[in-house]
Amino acid sequence: MKIAVLPGDGIGTEIVAEALKVLKVLDLPLELESADVGGMAYDKHGHPLPEATLKLAREADAILFGAVGDWKYDKLERQFRPEQAILGLRKSLGLFANFRPAICYEQLTDASSLKPELVSGLDILIIRELTGDIYFGQPRGRRIAPDGNFPGAEEAFDTMRYSRPEIERIAHVAFQAARKRGKRVTSVDKANVLETFQLWKDVVTEVGQQYPDIKLDHMYVDNAAMQLVKAPKAFDVIVTGNMFGDILSDAAAMLTGSIGMLPSASLNASNQGLYEPSHGSAPDIAGKGVANPLATILSAAMMLRFSLNQPQAADRIESAVSAVLSQGLRTADIFSAGSTKVGTRQMGDAVVAAITKKTTKS
Ligand code: IPM
Ligand code: MG
Repeated sequence: MKIAVLPGDGIGTEIVAEALKVLKVLDLPLELESADVGGMAYDKHGHPLPEATLKLAREADAILFGAVGDWKYDKLERQFRPEQAILGLRKSLGLFANFRPAICYEQLTDASSLKPELVSGLDILIIRELTGDIYFGQPRGRRIAPDGNFPGAEEAFDTMRYSRPEIERIAHVAFQAARKRGKRVTSVDKANVLETFQLWKDVVTEVGQQYPDIKLDHMYVDNAAMQLVKAPKAFDVIVTGNMFGDILSDAAAMLTGSIGMLPSASLNASNQGLYEPSHGSAPDIAGKGVANPLATILSAAMMLRFSLNQPQAADRIESAVSAVLSQGLRTADIFSAGSTKVGTRQMGDAVVAAITKKTTKS
């Protein structure tokens, strides 16, 4: 099982190191190879997604990704910005199906920004389409004023676009995922305003007819944002486009206590996947050893389950994470009075210890 390891920028290296520690202790036949990505790759090779990195990613069974981005690259031309690395990987590998589970661990109900009773037992799954929509639609660009007097662009535009097959395949992913859990799908759109999302709604409805065992409903994105903070447990699977999914998944993440807890998987049609925490590179805390590595560790668990067919190993990681939370260990982002504050490495070590302890017992 070949894994491309792409730590990237900011806290990326620190959190990926902890996930690798956890993977190593599981003693699986994994072949790990690292490569440069993001701003650090731009600094070293002049491109955020160097050819060699893309090649390694293509040839791997799975990709473990940290994070990319730093304010210092904000002035670069768009094609050289660190974010282009992750967008390029998603597009080149056809990773259209993004799974963003938002699970609130019982031990963390207090860390949520919502009242404990609203999030206790929360387990929802956001399925975000990842290779279409306004993120990739053409044409896009900026128009400079003809008289050249105005220093910047006078007008800018992006194209929101979805094709029927793109919507069909993500809808199938959502219905099939719902089958394995609460059997409900909420499709989030803006069909009251946008043609793109009228098509979305129509196609999801059509695909839904092939899944009579799944209850489908539709919700406008603004209402979905409201419902997510009002009664998040009312959702089971949410399926939506790239842009709305980006926004709603950050909101959902916070319900669970911290975005530092949320893993994600991005899969293509052959189940090859990229696994990354839902959070970013957090340059403000990079190198300080305080970042929460659990989202990345949980992403490694998703990788074992989805791409490497090792569900037991995935279970072991997930119960170890739950065990360290029960021990009261908390990184700064989820810390509250009465718990024990730990750094990135201590948190990783604790997960490793919880896994090895389980092994000797069984
Ligand atoms: C995410 C991030 C990315 C996105 C950025 C870094 C390009 O916000 O994975 O949610 O917008 O998709
Ligand atoms: Mg985002």
